[in-house]
Amino acid sequence: MGTQRHFRIWRGDDETGDLVDFDVEVNEGEVVLDIVHRVQATQAPDLAVRWNCKAGKCGSCSAEINGMPKLMCMTRMSTFGRDETVTVTPLRTFPVIRDLVTDVSFNYRKAREMPAFAPPEGVAPGEYRMQQVDVERSQEFRKCIECFLCQNTCHVVRDHEENKQAFSGPRLFIRAAELDMHPLDAKDDRKEVAQAEQGLGYCNITKCCTEVCPEGIHITDNAIIPMKERVVDRRYDPIFWLGRKIFRR
Ligand code: SF4
Ligand code: F3S
Ligand code: FES
Repeated sequence: MGTQRHFRIWRGDDETGDLVDFDVEVNEGEVVLDIVHRVQATQAPDLAVRWNCKAGKCGSCSAEINGMPKLMCMTRMSTFGRDETVTVTPLRTFPVIRDLVTDVSFNYRKAREMPAFAPPEGVAPGEYRMQQVDVERSQEFRKCIECFLCQNTCHVVRDHEENKQAFSGPRLFIRAAELDMHPLDAKDDRKEVAQAEQGLGYCNITKCCTEVCPEGIHITDNAIIPMKERVVDRRYDPIFWLGRKIFRR
């Protein structure tokens, strides 16, 4: 037997909108996405929500739940108090298409700007065998489900629309680090490209991206900081040096 719980869900588009109240039945074991679907089924059939796997693997159902960037399908209702209002809003960093659905094409544009993996000339398919140690080094980064919660959370673009031009964001920094660790990638120096063209220097290692990553990828410690470290060995980056003093005492 379910209980009635109070929800507030943002409805509108990029121009206008408001939080709308819903009282909804919640059953044991349910997640926030179940409740949003129940609202769709019983009270607001035109409520827009993007989802696919309901298993934390497709990265589609990203939203902000009581202000925290999360996957709706992985957020259990049991984590909220019985009388607590659960507020669901769209990702704040990207334009709203409708209700909980945002336009995340910023991330795809940034992905296209990334220089593609390029093996050295003359290496035919099958000629090169990767060592297990090389596979494992970047394995963590390949767990990314492209939910873009890290991109949404990073203050460099969250509060500064004007930075979107120059800053690719943490999801693309782990991609750069992954390619940088690939023994066969003969493309330019990925760290230099990240610094010069992808805005790595804008990152002041606040680690908010790492905190919200549902895959537990150590974005800051294992990708951003090592790339910054190697770049600052060659160039002086005052924000990085200060951050290293604060975070690595
Ligand atoms: Fe999502 Fe983590 Fe990938 Fe960022 S790095 S897009 S938070 S899975
Ligand atoms: Fe942003 Fe993550 Fe750096 S939140 S500032 S990319 S550590
Ligand atoms: Fe696929 Fe939530 S629906 S991650």
